[in-house]
Amino acid sequence: THREARFRIGVSQCSDDEWRHQMNNEMLREALFYDGVEIDIRTVKDDNAEQIKDIRNFIKEGVDLLVVAPNEAAPITPVVEEAFDRGIPVIVFDRKILSDKYTAYIGADNYELGKAIGNYVANMLHGQGNVVEIAGLTGSTPAMDRHQGFVAAISPYPGIQLLAREDAGWLRSEAGEKMDTLLARFPEIDVVYAQNDRMAAGAYDVAERQGRAEEMRFIGTDALPGEGYGVEQVLNGQLDATFIYPTGGDRVIQMAMDILNKRDFPRETILSTSVVDATNAQIMQMQTSHIATLDEKIETMNGKMSQFLDRYATQQVILYGSLLV
Ligand code: FRU
Repeated sequence: THREARFRIGVSQCSDDEWRHQMNNEMLREALFYDGVEIDIRTVKDDNAEQIKDIRNFIKEGVDLLVVAPNEAAPITPVVEEAFDRGIPVIVFDRKILSDKYTAYIGADNYELGKAIGNYVANMLHGQGNVVEIAGLTGSTPAMDRHQGFVAAISPYPGIQLLAREDAGWLRSEAGEKMDTLLARFPEIDVVYAQNDRMAAGAYDVAERQGRAEEMRFIGTDALPGEGYGVEQVLNGQLDATFIYPTGGDRVIQMAMDILNKRDFPRETILSTSVVDATNAQIMQMQTSHIATLDEKIETMNGKMSQFLDRYATQQVILYGSLLV
């Protein structure tokens, strides 16, 4: 009872981490609600050349729609343009390219996110203190935009010094290494702004090992639910605050289906963010764990449904066969 998929969607992920996994699960779960959709997710490990290969293969295989989170904007732009020029609809999500040759964009506004964090930090410091920034991959647009928004928010405060900004490529271990040199360089650090929670965790570990974690406060981004991730980092006091960076996988697939079915769709969809700190982390954890159990139920339900449909299909074949004799 194999049915040919009506639509094949190719998804090219730039990284392999818990944020991407959550997003992938959302996309796959959302796809269960549509008939005849096949989602093919290919993931690289922060590697432009490999991601270009994946996208080129999707083009060759003739996918009906392409979803791309570009690792770095400049190197990934030409191959996305190539897909678009060949008439393949392209949804760019989370990170941007340097061209308007795409069909739709979905993601948070990273400049506004950086600004919200800058304002939070300025408040927390009462306009006075030393900050270091541990940034994501410099060539990726969220790293550039978060930095610019952050600087715009703190620059009206002459008492706040951004001592340094280090590129840790969105990665935990690199953040640890960068934090090591920052600690050696600066005897007084009040706030560590890490552009994601994973890098905040790496930086925290190193500061902790050197007995300096208590001197400073850590701010992150992503606020993922689940063991060891952002919300828990706030609850256990490693992070003073983190900001939700929505994964929005369900929204991406809804948009893909609108495009494929020639319905109207917005060209830019901006997903919203919100702060998670000691005031709301507990309720956030309760609600996300409730949502997780509901998600599991949806998957169980889907499993039962397809068993039922399979059985129904075989019964029909048997019935049809018996009518022939
Ligand atoms: C996941 C991630 C997130 C970050 C986002 C930026 O791959 O590194 O931690 O917020 O990408 O694009």
